[in-house]
Amino acid sequence: MTHELLVIGSANADLVVSADRRPGGGETVLGGDTEILPGGKGANTAVAAARLGADVALVGAVGDDPYGSVLLDSLRGSGVDTGLVRTSSRPTGIAYITVTPDGENSILVSPGANGSIEPADVEGIFDGVKTVVLSLEIPLPTVERAVAAAADAGVKVLFNLSPAAKISDATLAALDVLLVNEHEAAWLLGGELDDPRQLLELGPKAAVVTLGARGAVVVTEDGAVEVASPKVEAVDTTGAGDAFAGALAAAVTAGKSLVEAAEHAVKVAAISVTRRGAQPSYPTSDEV
Ligand code: RIB
Ligand code: NA
Repeated sequence: MTHELLVIGSANADLVVSADRRPGGGETVLGGDTEILPGGKGANTAVAAARLGADVALVGAVGDDPYGSVLLDSLRGSGVDTGLVRTSSRPTGIAYITVTPDGENSILVSPGANGSIEPADVEGIFDGVKTVVLSLEIPLPTVERAVAAAADAGVKVLFNLSPAAKISDATLAALDVLLVNEHEAAWLLGGELDDPRQLLELGPKAAVVTLGARGAVVVTEDGAVEVASPKVEAVDTTGAGDAFAGALAAAVTAGKSLVEAAEHAVKVAAISVTRRGAQPSYPTSDEV
């Protein structure tokens, strides 16, 4: 079971509720009906890539419960191999998501089974793999081990530093592509994003900074290139970053340059924000 693209990361059931505004501390706000949608940064990335035609497997974990089945069905239905998704004794991860009328979301994640993905789960899985994508809703030691093992095996490593966390200098130096949004980039650079080229000083060979509705900037040793996003009406931005990551990885694995891949990824992410949910909103290559 060899795949060109491996995604290592979380799978969550997204419990999504619309509300006029988010509740503050000690406050109760009434919202709309709850929707249960497949999500999680890892699963989202894998589904986005598979819909675009990539040959992809997810390395992850779900619980032995109905939410786990929802997630496995969505993955398989999109063509993601789930042979490396373990069933854990912990419950499936859940993301509690509030969406406001401007399309903005806030998310509280209960990692559950995602917290049981261990360094041992990422040993011996990189033979024949071209590209691996990692994100951070699973234990950091597992992610760091996977980056080192993948780099040793000559696999191209894309790292989506989301949600932001402190990773080691050795891990940063082993990355082919560091993928961050503006906030994560500023956080990494100690507060402000003046010049995205500074990200390369942290060690990665290249970096891509997503800029929301403005698109993205690609940084390589040749300099920084801005890629504009098509203008769209945002309904739900949940998982747009994961759609971008999956599309970027699919294109890089297919041999595209990083700038070409980012041009493709901004389109995919833009389509995703025009529809509700994360995975259910991701397009196929025909639509793009
Ligand atoms: O990036 C979006 C994802 O973050 C959601 O699908 C949710 O599950 C959280 O992991
Ligand atoms: Na969406």
